[in-house]
Amino acid sequence: MNKALRRTVIAGNWKMNKTPDEAKALIEEMKPLVAGADCDVVLCVPYVDIPAAVEAAKGSNIRIGAENVHFKASGAYTGEVSADMLKAVGVEYVIIGHSERRQYFGETDQTVNLRTLAALNAGLKVILCVGETLEQRELGYTETLLKYQTKIGLTNVTAEQLKNVIIAYEPVWAIGTGVTATDDQADEGNGFVRAAVAEAYGADVAETVTVQYGGSMNAKNAEGLLSKVNVDGGLIGGASLKAPDFSVIVKAASK
Ligand code: 13P
Repeated sequence: MNKALRRTVIAGNWKMNKTPDEAKALIEEMKPLVAGADCDVVLCVPYVDIPAAVEAAKGSNIRIGAENVHFKASGAYTGEVSADMLKAVGVEYVIIGHSERRQYFGETDQTVNLRTLAALNAGLKVILCVGETLEQRELGYTETLLKYQTKIGLTNVTAEQLKNVIIAYEPVWAIGTGVTATDDQADEGNGFVRAAVAEAYGADVAETVTVQYGGSMNAKNAEGLLSKVNVDGGLIGGASLKAPDFSVIVKAASK
């Protein structure tokens, strides 16, 4: 296992928080705190915040992402946004398959796969989210489910395209609950994801894929989680809304 073969990526997921003015202010506050980080730093923001965020992040090491994307290029899909539209306004990353999208907005592994393909074809980098519910964990299906979600999500993604995919293991029971997976649970879950990539693309490719952990990661627990061999970064919700907390996580990832 060689962590040096892959990029460490710390990404914030702001979810449905911040107006454009607030986004600008938060990014201005973050810029000096994360400058010079020895990891990739990404902020995924609500659609309407994207222009302000891209402008505020200009000239810094912060890259801007979106929180979802539709799988069609254009057409009668009221309320949706295409990958080309995101690309055109300076978006570089997009979160796909977040458990909140699956839980509240009916997204399935199949639509997650279609969104992934559309984003990659448009030249976006994808943060593909997978994760089990508490019930699924207690029934003993964590490994099966993570492998299934990973493989379906990556259907028809070529090994070349996979270079633009980050996978985020986010146990649903740890998101926004304050209950973090232990360092070992995170490492194990990320390991199941990497094993699924190995089954689909071979062990050498799997060694190069960035697998993040997400779920109540914060300034206090980040260092322990990030010290694990299979944890190549984090996808951070609540703590990404506070510049000092987010920068502590970025610094922990830079060690
Ligand atoms: P929290 O860090 O708030 O638990 O959210 C995690 C998450 O869902 C990131 O995508």
